[in-house]
Amino acid sequence: MATFQTLPGFREFYPEDFSRRNHIFRLWRQTAATYGFAEYDAPVLEPLDLYKAKSGDEIEAQLFSFTDKGGREVALRPEMTPTVCRLVGARASALKRPIKWFSIAEFYRYERMQKGRGRCFFQFNADIFGEPGPEAEIELIALLIQCLRAFGLSEDDFYVRLSDRNLWFYYLEALGLDEPRSRGILGAIDKFEKLGDDAFKDYIEEFGGIDPAVKAKVLSFLAIKSLSTLEQTLSELGGDKLGARLADWKKLLGALEAMGLARFVEVDLGVVRGLAYYTGFVFEAFDRKGELRALAGGGRYDNLVEKLGGPALPAVGFAIGDMTFALLLEQRGLMPAFVQAPDVYCVIGGPQERLAAFGEINALRAAGFRVDYPMKELAFGKQFKAAAESGAKLALIYGGDELVKGVVKIRDLTLRTETEVPRAQAVAAVRDFFSGA
Ligand code: HAM
Repeated sequence: MATFQTLPGFREFYPEDFSRRNHIFRLWRQTAATYGFAEYDAPVLEPLDLYKAKSGDEIEAQLFSFTDKGGREVALRPEMTPTVCRLVGARASALKRPIKWFSIAEFYRYERMQKGRGRCFFQFNADIFGEPGPEAEIELIALLIQCLRAFGLSEDDFYVRLSDRNLWFYYLEALGLDEPRSRGILGAIDKFEKLGDDAFKDYIEEFGGIDPAVKAKVLSFLAIKSLSTLEQTLSELGGDKLGARLADWKKLLGALEAMGLARFVEVDLGVVRGLAYYTGFVFEAFDRKGELRALAGGGRYDNLVEKLGGPALPAVGFAIGDMTFALLLEQRGLMPAFVQAPDVYCVIGGPQERLAAFGEINALRAAGFRVDYPMKELAFGKQFKAAAESGAKLALIYGGDELVKGVVKIRDLTLRTETEVPRAQAVAAVRDFFSGA
C-alpha cells in the first residue's frame, strides 16, 4: 500500500504542536491589540506579478508558482507586504491615519531546508502606513520587542539590529558611486556576514572590479556599531542629507531609550535586508547567542504602495517568523507544556445514571466548564483512573445510590475529599469550587 508523506518542508500540527502554535498566536494577537493594531487577512494565492520585481530576486526564485485552470500565472504568497500594500492602497483615502495593521498568516517559499527554515511557515506582520517620520519606526520596534518579551524572553535572549538603507545610499553617493553601483554594494553587504570577501564577487563581475579605497570605506562603515561612531563618520563627510538623517537616528534611539528599550537595540550597519523594496531604516531581531537564523525582519518601504498602483504612501513594517521563534522559546524552557485537562470528569454507573448525568454535563458545558466522561460503560475503578489521568480538578460521581437519593457526589481530586449535593445544585457547586467560594 502506498504511504503518503507531507511534502518536504511542510508541517503537520498534531494537537500538542497546535497548542504551542496557539500559545504563540494568542500572545502576538494580544500584544498587537495593546499597541492599537487592527487585524486583517487576505488570499493565500495571488497573481504572480504581485511579487515579480517587487519582492527581490531571492524571493522570486523561491516562489511556489503555477498556471491555474483559467490560464492565470499565480503564486502562493511568500510574504504579506505586497498584499497589504494593495489592500491599503485601494482604500487609502478612506482609512484613518496612521493606519496600524497586523496579521498572522501562513507563507510559502521553496527554500533549502535548514534549522528554523521551512517551505511553509507563519509570520506575524505589523505595518504602519501614512507616517513618513521615525515615529512609525519607534512604534514598530517597540511592538517587535514586546512581541518577544510577552513570552518571558529578555535582553539576554534576543536583540534588534538597527541599520539604514537611506544612510547607506547617501554615504555611497558621497563616495562617488551611482545608483546601480550602490545597489550592487548593498547586495554584497547583505551577504558579507555569511560569505566574507566572496560577497563582492557579483559586484566585481558586474562592474569590472571594485576600487580598493571604496571597498575599505564600505567595510569600515559596515563595522559601525554605535551612534557616536556613526556621528563621527558622518560629520567628517558633512552635507544636509546626512545631517537630517542623523537627526532621525537620534529621535528613534532617544524614544526607544525613553521607553526603557535601549538595551534591546544595537546600531549595526551590517544589516541591509535582502528584500528589494526597503528604502530607509531596516532592522532584524536575532537570538543573543547567534545560534539561530533571524527571528524577525523589517523596515521602511516608502515606494511600494505607489509601485503597486496605489497613492504615494509611506510605510514601515516587520514580520516575525514562527519557526526560529519556537526554537528559541524551547531552548529557553519558555514553551508551555501541552495541557488539555478538563475541569470536571464524570464517573457514571449504568444507563440510567448516564441519562441523569447528561443533563448536568450539558448544563456545565453551557456554563463554560470543560467536562469529559467515558464514552462507554466502564467499571468504576477504570473510570476513577481515567479521571485522575485526565488532569481534572473535580470528579462528579453518578452511582446507583446517588441516583435514588437525587444527589451527585463531588470529589476534589487533588485533596481527595468528597461532598454530596442535590443534583439541582450541581452546576452551582462546581461554579463555587472554581471561583474559590
Ligand atoms: P523576511 O526577512 O523575509 O521579511 O521574513 C521575516 C521573518 O520570517 C524571518 O526573520 C524569519 O523568521 C521568517 N521566515 C522567512 N522565511 C522563512 C522560511 N523559509 N522558513 C521559516 N521562517 C521564515 C519579510 O517577509 C518582510 N515581508 C517583512 C516585512 C513586513 N517588511 C515590512 N513589513
